[in-house]
Amino acid sequence: MIIAFISIAIIKIIALYVFMVKVLFLGDIVGRPGRSFVCEKVNELKADLSVHIVIVNGENAAGGSGITLSIAKELFSSGVDGITLGDHIWDQKGFENEIGDIEGLCRPSNLPKQNPGRTHIILKFNSFTLGVFSVLGRNYINLKSSCPFQTVDSQIEAIKNQCDAILVEAHMEATSEKIALGWYLDGKIAGLIGTHTHTPTADGRILPKGTAYISDVGMCGSYQSVLGREIDPVINSFKDGIKRRFPVADQDIRLSGCLIGIDEKRGLAESFQRFELKKSAKSSSA
Ligand SMILES: [Fe+2]
Ligand SMILES: [Fe+2]
Repeated sequence: MIIAFISIAIIKIIALYVFMVKVLFLGDIVGRPGRSFVCEKVNELKADLSVHIVIVNGENAAGGSGITLSIAKELFSSGVDGITLGDHIWDQKGFENEIGDIEGLCRPSNLPKQNPGRTHIILKFNSFTLGVFSVLGRNYINLKSSCPFQTVDSQIEAIKNQCDAILVEAHMEATSEKIALGWYLDGKIAGLIGTHTHTPTADGRILPKGTAYISDVGMCGSYQSVLGREIDPVINSFKDGIKRRFPVADQDIRLSGCLIGIDEKRGLAESFQRFELKKSAKSSSA
C-alpha cells in the first residue's frame, strides 16, 4: 500500500516536471538601471529557476519612456524571448517605423488597426507554443483603444489553434478592470498578468478554473523612487503643479515579476509565484 502511494507520488512529480513549462514574466523595465539588471540576470535566472520562456514588458526601457529597435535587440540577445508594450509604446520618435521589423515584440492588441506592429507573438519551447498578447485598459489610460473584453475574445479565437497555451497582459491602471478581466478569462488562458502601475500587488494566485492572475507584477527598476523616477521632482510637481523632467532613478534596483508553471496539455496554470530579485551592491551591472 505504502509502495503504491510512493509510486503514484513519483509519477505525479515526473509528470509535473515533464509537462510543465515554466514562464518568467517581468514587469515594466524602467530605463537603463532596470534594463541592465534584466540583461545581466536573464540567462542566470533561466538556469537557476529552470525557466523555459522569459517575457518582459519594455514600455519604459528607453530612458523611462518607450523602447527602440536597438534596446529590443539588446534584450533579445541577453536571453529575453518576448517583449510586450503598453501605453508608452510610441514615446520614442520613429519607433513606429521600427516596430514592424522586431519579431518577438507585440504592441497592445486593442490599439486602432492602423497602428503598426504585431498584435500578438507566439513563443516556443521545444514543441510547446505560447501565444502572448497585451490589452490596454480604458480607465485612466490616455491612448485610444477598443474594448479589452471584446479584444481578448477575438484574439484568443484568432490564435488558439496556433498555440498550446495563451498568456495575456492586462496593461491597465484600474485594478477593478484587471480583476474583472481575470474572472472573465478564468479557465480560458494560462495567465492574466497585470502591469502598468509599476507597483506589485499581493493578490497573485491561480483562479478556480486554472488561470494564474495578479493585478500587477511591479516593475524592473529603482524602488527608491516614484514609479522608477527620482523622488524629489515628482514631489515638487505634485506640490506646485509645474511640469518638470522626471529623471530615471538608480537606487535600490530590483527585478519584479512572476513565475507561472503551465501544464502544456491543458494550457492552464499549475503553479504561480511572485518573483523579486534585488540587486546587490556587488552586482556588476550599471
Ligand atoms: Fe510602465
Ligand atoms: Fe503603462
